[in-house]
Amino acid sequence: MPELKRLHAGHAPAVLAFELANRTYFAASISDRGDDFFDQFTDRYNASLTEQEAGICAFYVLVAEDGSVLGRFNLYDLEDGTARLGYRVAERVAGRGVATATVRELCRMATVMYGLLTLRAATSHDNTASQKVLAKAGFVSVGPATPADLGGKSGTWYQRDLQS
Ligand SMILES: CC(C)(COP(=O)(O)OP(=O)(O)OC[C@H]1O[C@@H](n2cnc3c(N)ncnc32)[C@H](O)[C@@H]1OP(=O)(O)O)[C@@H](O)C(=O)NCCC(=O)NCCS
Repeated sequence: MPELKRLHAGHAPAVLAFELANRTYFAASISDRGDDFFDQFTDRYNASLTEQEAGICAFYVLVAEDGSVLGRFNLYDLEDGTARLGYRVAERVAGRGVATATVRELCRMATVMYGLLTLRAATSHDNTASQKVLAKAGFVSVGPATPADLGGKSGTWYQRDLQS
């Protein structure tokens, strides 16, 4: 049974393998991380852990029984009871409800672990899968997302009230 775990240093090799294996798949719907992300992976990974320790962000990995990473689910900019949600799921388990179930789980955890009251997420007009994930996890559209929000694409901001 895959488990949702808070990111730690020991996850680094599996996270890198996940990002490399799915780079082309992800780039079809969201902006590519860029070569720098992979060239400077260790430094960036450690910087993320420092941000997490500071309580600015909270990073989660969905880990399979064999230790491989099936998905990443992140909460950014935790402040004033709200945060921004981002996620990506491996191509090899696409379309099996992994993102939907894990976003629902993270919504429950966000209140218990971090005292969050709302979550926000932006997705592009052409990212049907992500729109479905958000709708099924109880998010509603709250306004337009600009190309600056979405790495060059237009889309929609969604929000979920975690108390409902
Ligand atoms: C978006 C993403 C996380 C969805 O992950 P997933 O685990 O495959 O999603 P689910 O299985 O929970 O599917 C949710 C819905 O999307 C649909 N879906 C999945 N992949 C799809 C695709 N490529 N095109 C259209 N619909 C798709 C599923 O059929 C399901 O709809 P249904 O409930 O009506 O059957 C995954 O495609 C991904 O990582 N994409 C790249 C990164 C990304 O877009 N992140 C979101 C940024 S806002």
